[in-house]
Amino acid sequence: MAADTFQRSCDHWSDDARAEMEAFYELARIDYRYLAETYDWADAFGRLLARDEPLRLADIACGSGKFPEALLSYAGLEQLDGLKVHYDLLDPSDFSVREAKQVLRPPFEAGAEYCCTLQDWDCDAGAYDIAWATHALYCVPAEELPTGLEKMVRCLKPDGLGFVAQGLRDGHYVGFYDVFREALQDGQGTPYSDGAQVEAALRRLGVSVRSRQLNYTTVVSAGREELLESYLQRCAFDDSVSLEKMLSTEPLATYLASCYQQGSHEYHFEQRIGLTLFAHSDARLILRDR
Ligand SMILES: C[S@@+](CC[C@H](N)C(=O)[O-])C[C@H]1O[C@@H](n2cnc3c(N)ncnc32)[C@H](O)[C@@H]1O
Repeated sequence: MAADTFQRSCDHWSDDARAEMEAFYELARIDYRYLAETYDWADAFGRLLARDEPLRLADIACGSGKFPEALLSYAGLEQLDGLKVHYDLLDPSDFSVREAKQVLRPPFEAGAEYCCTLQDWDCDAGAYDIAWATHALYCVPAEELPTGLEKMVRCLKPDGLGFVAQGLRDGHYVGFYDVFREALQDGQGTPYSDGAQVEAALRRLGVSVRSRQLNYTTVVSAGREELLESYLQRCAFDDSVSLEKMLSTEPLATYLASCYQQGSHEYHFEQRIGLTLFAHSDARLILRDR
């Protein structure tokens, strides 16, 4: 049987899979711009700036650093005089840690590196002003979310802020993989966890939680078959299945047909993302919508 979800994720977050990753981000880079523009991050960092020391931030499952890259481009952080953020990176892939580190520039300063899973993180309790995980925890199995998220809660200062952005089950990222497993893996293998499972696990940990949903559409021309194929392969971390096979194997064929728009000859993938803020008290859920 093919390797399970987490192992395939690790195989694809590697130097060997760089070309596939870059093709994926031709379509998915925008995911992070939406996150950077949904909240007023400059206002949030501005308020945290009142603290008289460099801020400490943990980027959990940092991937290739598309979220800090988007914040540096779109969040207006450059207006904040004196902002300095010690930016720690955690990811089981050393490729990801290297990639994310290269993106960082002021006010973000590369800090500690943890090459491990969130579940295995020996975190510094009460050390962080901010901990976030953006499109990051899909490969943490649902039953391990409590262990992982407890680390994210524990690492926060009493007045720290946590943030998780993760696809919901009825949106493309998570829903596609459910249908993919059904069609091509006999329903076997670990499903991606989704934003609702993250929110539920955080609530069970007893922290203050506020969540909202972000919806948008990823559009790809049906004429760009290679891009479409590598995007979908990356969504499932499986490059052994061709586009042709996906388009002809049920129930995936029906799902993909439902995304196809005849008039424009495009595929429209509907994204539904759960955005969850958490903190030790309601008063610290300080992110304002933009
Ligand atoms: C889509 S990327 C995250 C994107 C990133 N937030 C960004 O800003 O570009 C997902 C990352 O999760 C990592 N990952 C997978 N399982 C993990 C786990 N259990 N704990 C921590 N990271 C994990 C992968 O190695 C990969 O680098």
